[in-house]
Amino acid sequence: MTGNAATATAVRPYQQYVYAYPHKTAYRPLAREQASLRALWADEPKGALSLYFHIPFCEVRCGFCNLFTRIGAPDGLTGAYLDALERQASAVREALGEGARFANAAFGGGTPTFLEAAELERLCDLAERGLGADLAAVPLSVEASPATATADRLAVLADRGTTRLSLGVQSFVDAEARTAVRPQRRADVEAALARVRDAGIPVLNIDLIYGIDGQTEESFTRSLDAALAWRPEELYLYPLYVRPLTGLGRRREPVVSGEAEWDEQRLRLYRHGRDHLRAHGYEQVSMRMFRRADAPDTGAGDYACQTDGMVGLGCGARSYTSRLHYSFDYAVDMHRIRGIIDAYAARSADGFRHADFGWEMTGDEARRRHLLQSLLQAEGMPVAGYRTRFGSLPGDDFAAELARFGDRGWLDDTAGPELLRLSPEGLAHSDAVGPALFSAAVRARMAAYEPK
Ligand SMILES: C[S@@+](CC[C@H](N)C(=O)[O-])C[C@H]1O[C@@H](n2cnc3c(N)ncnc32)[C@H](O)[C@@H]1O
Ligand code: SF4
Repeated sequence: MTGNAATATAVRPYQQYVYAYPHKTAYRPLAREQASLRALWADEPKGALSLYFHIPFCEVRCGFCNLFTRIGAPDGLTGAYLDALERQASAVREALGEGARFANAAFGGGTPTFLEAAELERLCDLAERGLGADLAAVPLSVEASPATATADRLAVLADRGTTRLSLGVQSFVDAEARTAVRPQRRADVEAALARVRDAGIPVLNIDLIYGIDGQTEESFTRSLDAALAWRPEELYLYPLYVRPLTGLGRRREPVVSGEAEWDEQRLRLYRHGRDHLRAHGYEQVSMRMFRRADAPDTGAGDYACQTDGMVGLGCGARSYTSRLHYSFDYAVDMHRIRGIIDAYAARSADGFRHADFGWEMTGDEARRRHLLQSLLQAEGMPVAGYRTRFGSLPGDDFAAELARFGDRGWLDDTAGPELLRLSPEGLAHSDAVGPALFSAAVRARMAAYEPK
């Protein structure tokens, strides 16, 4: 074993999925006077914004999931939630002022298709009439679970311009779904996939999870092949994480001795899944994302929010201006989540005119975010784009971090001086690369956060 490889194996590969930087657990309470939406958006470019609606409802709480969501919606809660979204949309539109244009939209969760067909119509109306987004003209991505992907809901979504439907399958092997505490049967999943294809939404994405107890290369292949039979335009392969306060997290003993073995299992399954999909005509976009090479281009960039602003509505949504990332309060514990959703649904129109929690994007943080988000893409980061944006070189700004990645064999040294790109091993270790680029301030805030 070389020295480099020895170092690489010592680093934990599954530290954190960095899909946004910084994580919400780093956000801090904002003083009202620094957080008026009107002031926050006043000088921002608004010609190509991203729009996101967060729907925090699910039919079940899966054992692995720590997303901001609750089971069921008693007493007309979805109606009250949509009323609140309407009040928020009107406050946000007022703050954005004239000239705001949305370049893409997404409904995420939770499970947006927990809403019934008529409620989904209302949600689309809200995006269009409330905020001025032209859903028929821009990419619109929606998350769904198999049980809630019913024909009537999918018909509404297709009719209103959905270009991408992402279905959480996790595993086609019923025993694995049970182990992950994801109550579903393969026959129902297959029926849901048929309904999605019948609805004629151009891009189907399927989410699968690897690293479930008892999952082997053979059983993972069965899931991969079952997914491939639908020729999905996209596939996401997620390594399983077991986090505090989730169903699996409460059940599992603190894993210490088995941790390295589990890492090995996940790395093995990752490599196997990656190679299997590549052999079946898929290109790797990032550690988790794969796209069918011959899929039609729908113009939906995977991470278009690198420079544009993000307007998030709903109680778990984040919003990004160039200077501040903000959201409402955050929790994982069921009881607290319910409290936050109820408070959101009861919020007055005036209460939506300011941000509650956030993180200031100083020059250093913006550089980190740019590097982090581009480096975690398989195609890597063009140095010219970074230099143009920040007037400096990533090699100077992040000399120590990049040297460490290089020592571990995580950088592709064939990429040339104008491209920073991860090697295949670097990409496999994306969830260690990301956290290594966090600033000391973000790290300290996250460490101080107590899961609640
Ligand atoms: C919002 S959910 C997808 C939509 C829908 N709620 C569903 O579950 O079918 C996002 C995806 O993140 C992945 N995910 C969530 N928590 C995870 C965890 N702890 N480990 C691995 N993957 C996870 C799952 O694949 C899941 O489908
Ligand atoms: S995985 Fe999807 S359906 Fe399950 S609890 Fe999380 S958001 Fe809800």
